[in-house]
Amino acid sequence: MRRFETKNVIVTGAAMGLGKSLAEQFAAEGARLVVLDRQDPAAAVQDLRRLGATADGLSCDIAVEKDVTKAVADAAQLLDGKIDILINNAGFNGKAQLLQDMKLEDWDYTLRVNLTGTMLVTREVSHHMIARKSGRIINIASNVARRGLPFRADYVSSKWALIGLTQTLALELVEHGIRVNAVCPGPIEGERIGQLVRMHSEAEGVDLAAVHKAWEDVPMKRFIRPEEVANVVKFLCGEESSAMTGQALNITGGMIMT
Ligand SMILES: NC(=O)c1ccc[n+]([C@@H]2O[C@H](COP(=O)([O-])OP(=O)(O)OC[C@H]3O[C@@H](n4cnc5c(N)ncnc54)[C@H](O)[C@@H]3O)[C@@H](O)[C@H]2O)c1
Repeated sequence: MRRFETKNVIVTGAAMGLGKSLAEQFAAEGARLVVLDRQDPAAAVQDLRRLGATADGLSCDIAVEKDVTKAVADAAQLLDGKIDILINNAGFNGKAQLLQDMKLEDWDYTLRVNLTGTMLVTREVSHHMIARKSGRIINIASNVARRGLPFRADYVSSKWALIGLTQTLALELVEHGIRVNAVCPGPIEGERIGQLVRMHSEAEGVDLAAVHKAWEDVPMKRFIRPEEVANVVKFLCGEESSAMTGQALNITGGMIMT
């Protein structure tokens, strides 16, 4: 039997990027998937089905409470009320700007998606997990949940806050057999990294290649591969990590060591 054969998994922000890759990695291990995204997740669902998985996609903006309430209710129905794993991956980069120039609406929107959105999805899913006295919740934080990063105060603050949410939920849900953990990846190979490097280069007035080089300048001298994040997420969802809750694991090529 494959490792996640009997498991039902919800992944947010899985129409593209890391979320899509996480969904595919769980699909390859036999999981049944429901992906939520504010973009149309149809193409990602087709790819999951091509891998042989039972998969569905639901449109949902996690920043909108009524969207989340409906999407989680629909997901629970598709999964017969059995939600084993929630991966809170959906996230918004924000713009690259100094705090002194930051508009309140920009700050509010990043926090709304990355923190409030994650809280809303988790709150709705937790009712189903509590009823079954079982569950695993993984929050995708960031290396910038462990350090500061100029020009990104909104994003950085939202990711630090996810660690507080992870620790608090771990304590609240432990009596219900639910484990809550986070991962803190360094820059990940993929579509988004080019966009982020461009954004910082323009905002900081620094050459594109110099930003790219600086970001790769970690002990392993490279970006992180999505499957390396997936491997740690699968570990945190599996029996190998049965004594772990409230943890935040760095996947940064040695950039962060605390
Ligand atoms: N890419 C990196 O280098 C990196 C590093 C560390 C952490 N992360 C985190 O990993 C996660 C995934 O990052 P990515 O690089 O794949 O990003 P991405 O921008 O490529 O994909 C994000 C996905 O989330 C969805 N999404 C965004 N806002 C949403 C909302 N309000 N409601 C529903 N879905 C929404 C998008 O439509 C998209 O499908 C994010 O939480 C990000 O902060 C990324």
